[in-house]
Amino acid sequence: MEEAILDALRAVQDPDLHRDIVSLGFVKDVKVESGKASATIELTTPACPVKEELEAECIAAISAVPGVSEVDVTMTARVREKPGAQDLIPGVRQCIAVASGKGGVGKSTVTLNLAVALAQQGARVGVLDADVYGPSIPLMTGTQTERPMTRDQQILPIERFGVAMMSLGYLLEDGQAVLWRGPMVAGTVKQLLADVSWGTLDYLLVDLPPGTGDAPMSLAQLVPLSGVVIVTTPHNVAANIAGKAAALFRRLNAPILGVVENMATFVCPSCGDPARIFSGQSGDELARVLGTPFLGSIPLDPSVSHAADQGLPSMVAYPQSVQAASFRELAGELARQISIRAEGTNLPDEQVEFAPRP
Ligand SMILES: Nc1ncnc2c1ncn2[C@@H]1O[C@H](COP(=O)(O)OP(=O)(O)O)[C@@H](O)[C@H]1O
Ligand SMILES: [Mg+2]
Repeated sequence: MEEAILDALRAVQDPDLHRDIVSLGFVKDVKVESGKASATIELTTPACPVKEELEAECIAAISAVPGVSEVDVTMTARVREKPGAQDLIPGVRQCIAVASGKGGVGKSTVTLNLAVALAQQGARVGVLDADVYGPSIPLMTGTQTERPMTRDQQILPIERFGVAMMSLGYLLEDGQAVLWRGPMVAGTVKQLLADVSWGTLDYLLVDLPPGTGDAPMSLAQLVPLSGVVIVTTPHNVAANIAGKAAALFRRLNAPILGVVENMATFVCPSCGDPARIFSGQSGDELARVLGTPFLGSIPLDPSVSHAADQGLPSMVAYPQSVQAASFRELAGELARQISIRAEGTNLPDEQVEFAPRP
């Protein structure tokens, strides 16, 4: 009977991995007791965008097995580990860098809200603020006065909104500015990785300083990155520089997971409809040029930057907003891209060099 159920589940395909869930090893604990069948399906991410569809398909498949009168399907998830030694951060399964060509495009906003969205889906998430020149995660989360504790000579992250966070901002005195050169930046990035007790994390998101300086270089050399998320705004200048940043990461052998477009649309406060406000190169255009997925677009929402100034991510302050919904979608899409890569069924990264627009 258990065999019959497994056979029935072979008809259920993972839409991204293009294989059935039995051969992918997702099916655990199939049991049947006097007509009552139960199974546990372990997906590759708790933020799976097609979780409900897969669950419904599994229930339908098992229900169709003769002799089954009742079905109980439990959906769980285990984020797979990125192959390669995570010497510095042994408990971190997937480390994702968030980068941009220039500052002010919303990289920190996107990093933080993505992290909260993933955590709300049940993932264990950390944020490493590696913007050593302008650490902004403490302010954006209202934790700027906190000072981390240490245990066994490791720094304990600050926890907020279900996310474990570490930033140079917690380690500096108030108002202290950083005027460092390359080797010191590299040393700090290493310290924020290795000397912090990150514990077990499904996703560690790293908020990088803009551009292609020392911090991104050090990060890519210190840890095997699952990939890089490129944040851009719909201005040709931003997109051009974002393209250059993407090219640098590719040279460092860090795959580009995709492009996020921020502040391209404005949600009209009275009618709620999103409108495009700039005419520059769009995020999906940039994604196409780079030969990488377009992960999503986050609308401009003035209440959001207000919330951020109060130390609340929009995912927390305005969970019902259009913007929060966009972040949830983005989180699902990012988790999906990571799962595809982790299963190794993806095509190799196309080595497209970015050609700036004339
Ligand atoms: N989608 C958005 N809607 C409204 N304001 C935003 C949005 N994204 C970013 N901002 C605001 O723009 C400013 C720059 O964002 P930030 O995340 O700090 O950029 P970066 O990290 O790229 O320098 C902040 O004041 C932030 O609150
Ligand atoms: Mg920033």
